[in-house]
Amino acid sequence: MNSDVHLKEFAVVGNPVAHSRSPAIHHHFGQQTGIALHYRIIESPLDAFTSVVRRFFEEGGSGLNVTVPFKQQAWELAHNHLSQRALLAGAVNTLWMKDGELHGCNTDGIGLLADLRRLGNDPAGKRILLVGAGGAARGVIFPLLEAGASRLHIVNRSPRKAVDLAGQMAEQLPDFAHQLSGGGLHEASGNWDIVINATSSSLSGETPPLQGVQYAPEALAYDMVYAATPTPFMQAASAQGARIADGLGMLVAQAAASFAIWNGIQPDIEPVLPELRKQLLAS
Ligand code: ATR
Repeated sequence: MNSDVHLKEFAVVGNPVAHSRSPAIHHHFGQQTGIALHYRIIESPLDAFTSVVRRFFEEGGSGLNVTVPFKQQAWELAHNHLSQRALLAGAVNTLWMKDGELHGCNTDGIGLLADLRRLGNDPAGKRILLVGAGGAARGVIFPLLEAGASRLHIVNRSPRKAVDLAGQMAEQLPDFAHQLSGGGLHEASGNWDIVINATSSSLSGETPPLQGVQYAPEALAYDMVYAATPTPFMQAASAQGARIADGLGMLVAQAAASFAIWNGIQPDIEPVLPELRKQLLAS
């Protein structure tokens, strides 16, 4: 750990994690808000996540981000003190210590909401198609409903998973049950205001074949993955007349939400985004 007592220590733990952009983002936020911090990358062995977390906080660390494949383990470690978002997401990406106890939140959904709003597509009153039924999709369902989505239809390559996820969420959130439904990719028909790709299809250069999907005027197609060039999902949506965005803004906004939890100050994501986009294009 750094010997400078005024420097707060943060890190992201994952495996693989070497290419994480979190240190650059958090150092930028630190400069912007005047908080002296050091943010590093910890690649944890797959079977040592718990001891890595314990050691980090025993050595005085202030806050830890958690990424693939440890978000569920982080949820279990912090199970006594989870935010409602984390509880419903079943995953934790932000850990901190308070009164000697580990606390956890999931800021992915907050990040998505912030980015949708930045792009002029507040989910309030919107019909939303959510593509995917894995961890990434689960993490954003409650935030989208809480933000006032009028409809949230989940479709997935394995239809059963989407139906089950919609059912579980409806059970846990009875007030929102009538907005929720699930089905297969062949059941994507509708006139959608926002279509979110929460699958990992873009990572393999594919796009989910969405049957019957229609984009309302001014509709946004949002890929939670980010890339130097538009993903196949974004290209297909653009050809249908939708506005498009990738998940770089969500990445920066979820980091900003973690930063705010740890430091009590909300950083501005706007100055960070162009810089990151430039780095992404150059990489
Ligand atoms: P993550 O944590 O990123 O959500 P995950 O939990 O493994 O990862 O979920 C991956 C999601 O992407 C799933 O919804 C998966 O669909 P299946 O449940 O049918 O496997 C979806 N997915 C991955 N590759 C895909 C592809 N090429 N086309 C469509 N969906 C895909």
